[in-house]
Amino acid sequence: MSVGKPLPHDAARLHVTGAARYVDDIPTPANALHLAFGLSTEAHADITEINLDKVRALEGVVAVLSADDFNEMPDCSPSAEDEPLLATGTVHYVGQPVFMVVATSHLIARKAARLADITYAPKPAILSYEDALAADTRFEEGPRIYSKGDAASAIASAPHRIEGTLEVGGQEHFYLESQAALVVPDDNGDMVVHSSTQHPTEIQHKVAHALHLPMSAVRVETRRMGGGFGGKESQGNALAIACAVAAARLGRPCKMRYDRDDDMTITGKRHEFRINYTCGFDDDGTITGIEFVQMTRCGWAQDLSLPVADRAMLHADNAYHLRNVRIESHRLRTNTQSATAYRGFGGPQGVIGIERVIDHIAHELNADPADIRRRNYYADMGTPDVATPAVQTTPYGQEVEDFILGAMTAKLLDSTNYKARRAAVDAWNAANPTLKKGLGISPVKFGISFTLTHLNQAGALVHIYQDGSIRMNHGGTEMGQGLFQKVAQVAASSFGVDASRVKITATDTAKVPNTSATAASSGSDLNGMAVKAACDTLRTRLETFLSEHFNETAPFTWQDGKVTFGTQEMTFEEVASLAYLNRVSLSATGFYKTPKIEWDRIKGHGRPFLYFAHGIALTEVVLDTLTGENRMLRTDILHDAGASLNPALDIGQVEGGFIQGAGWLTTEELVWDDKGHLRTHAPSTYKIPTASDAPDIFNVALWDAPNREDTIFRSKAVGEPPFMLGISTFLALSDAVASCGPNYPALNAPATPEELLAAIARATGKTSA
Ligand code: MTE
Ligand code: MOS
Repeated sequence: MSVGKPLPHDAARLHVTGAARYVDDIPTPANALHLAFGLSTEAHADITEINLDKVRALEGVVAVLSADDFNEMPDCSPSAEDEPLLATGTVHYVGQPVFMVVATSHLIARKAARLADITYAPKPAILSYEDALAADTRFEEGPRIYSKGDAASAIASAPHRIEGTLEVGGQEHFYLESQAALVVPDDNGDMVVHSSTQHPTEIQHKVAHALHLPMSAVRVETRRMGGGFGGKESQGNALAIACAVAAARLGRPCKMRYDRDDDMTITGKRHEFRINYTCGFDDDGTITGIEFVQMTRCGWAQDLSLPVADRAMLHADNAYHLRNVRIESHRLRTNTQSATAYRGFGGPQGVIGIERVIDHIAHELNADPADIRRRNYYADMGTPDVATPAVQTTPYGQEVEDFILGAMTAKLLDSTNYKARRAAVDAWNAANPTLKKGLGISPVKFGISFTLTHLNQAGALVHIYQDGSIRMNHGGTEMGQGLFQKVAQVAASSFGVDASRVKITATDTAKVPNTSATAASSGSDLNGMAVKAACDTLRTRLETFLSEHFNETAPFTWQDGKVTFGTQEMTFEEVASLAYLNRVSLSATGFYKTPKIEWDRIKGHGRPFLYFAHGIALTEVVLDTLTGENRMLRTDILHDAGASLNPALDIGQVEGGFIQGAGWLTTEELVWDDKGHLRTHAPSTYKIPTASDAPDIFNVALWDAPNREDTIFRSKAVGEPPFMLGISTFLALSDAVASCGPNYPALNAPATPEELLAAIARATGKTSA
């Protein structure tokens, strides 16, 4: 069977040879025009005068549009209709598009976009948590609160108590392909949109709305993205809408791609968080009560901030059974880029809060953090040698029926010789005054399903041609994660043929309608099932035909490219051809909706997730305590992908997710100045990890056990969960810092060299210079 095989990514060869086609590689029609946005230079201001004469005068500029040119400004928001395509009177962040240039070349458009004379009357800009709290600028009235038990009394009566604050920085997506769109006017005012998007249906919807067209008049096609990471769930809307508006007005194809600085200046990033915690615990480190206050800077527009902040709350427990817990969440509006989806969708910010608390408890009790973690874990379910315990519930009331981190942790600690490594690190630190080592262990339990329940649906379209070749289409998009290959393996398995027989095609809103974003790691769960449903329909139809045709009723086997039944054996090609000649339809749709889930986000209660995916990582680092420089020496990961659809792709996701998570917490630092300008808008000032930053020893293994829920071939989603394993690197650095002095270092993220030196000063009690 094709499913379960470690086949390479279907486009691996194309990726490494540069032949993979992205939006900007599509041959552009001869009369195509190119767009660029002119950007606000103020964080918050009224536009008092806008003079675009010099922009218009540049040779090659065909049109310049600003708010004055619209009766009704198109909206780009995925949620709240609060994102005008171009600023209307007031600007809300540095980088907000104010006007757009349409020119004969990309370069001319960009040059012209810098020539505007705009006069602003500045208004007070809300940049910090303090500013936002003082002005009470929020996206929901007051804070959202989820709670279980009585946290305040449990903390008050606990034998031990800690409190603290953790700053968690944002993160730039840094997809290698920046945002891009190409819109080609079609017959009779219809539009064809090529967009680098995780959400073709949303692009279709927003473009249709902007042009006052029915959705049926707009077709969106996405073959692949050069990375999305959540940054292409909503941030591509503006480019597609701008191109569509220009294409409609000028009757010519229009294309837009952000250059790197523009992309980083205009688009939203991971939400920054400030997490305050108070925790009560027993002598053995068991948490008896805990309170979190999560504050997040959402930026100027709502975008996906509410569900992101919800997910941070939903992951505040991570792997730990909290009996008395209160989580308070503040979604603050600030005059910065509108923070958006980013791998983990708020989950990582929730998880790092409790991981910090566990680390802090261990320091307080002078205990091994691995022991404190295991003491507070949910109980493993269904482990043979353990009597099945009473079902425990999350802070939001979901029963944890599939916890396996107890067994996974035991296996990882055993295989990595944890106790001996711990002793070796302690001995090293005792002997070495400058280079300090640290060990960090961090688990993840990640909820799988969209928390907006209706998004958990998918459709598919499968054709068999008369020569026996298969063409498959579904609503999922390919961003490098290998979704298309996995789903092709599902289709191939249904028909017992080789995966190479299944043609992988671009996502296309004209083939499968009303799709959800490829997000929440649900791509293969949803689209795999939808494709399987379509294949099952075709198989049943063919079996019915074949048994009637040959008058055979024995069971059918579809294997190795052959169909066997009764006394007959036919090749798949022969079946396809015979069915065609007998006028049997060889095309079918499939549909899937996730069962069992229901969720009330206002009450904070229900079953938002079908199941949980798990992982655990152990990382060892070395830190130069004089300079703050550091390296990952070794990382061992055990990750739960259920019965993996493709172990090679899944391990790739685990490796990439881990490194991206480590980057978030170490070198990737976003810096805004006091006027709200993002100072880190290029790779010269923003450092993502590269291959040379990966740990010298990097062992990744999959925990090979089927999902207890009935998912596609019992696999588990793998896209986002491993991102949170990067927290082990952060904890390892914290451990190295803690070896420098008696105090808890309270390391903040990102742990840049500057922050590490400051934390060392806190640990030793010496204030930094
Ligand atoms: N892997 C690669 N190579 N590129 C990406 O953009 N995005 C991540 C993850 N892995 C991403 C990736 C994010 S944010 C999500 S939600 C999932 O892939 C989406 O794909 P899936 O649902 O098919 O796992
Ligand atoms: Mo991923 S952040 O859900 O696109």
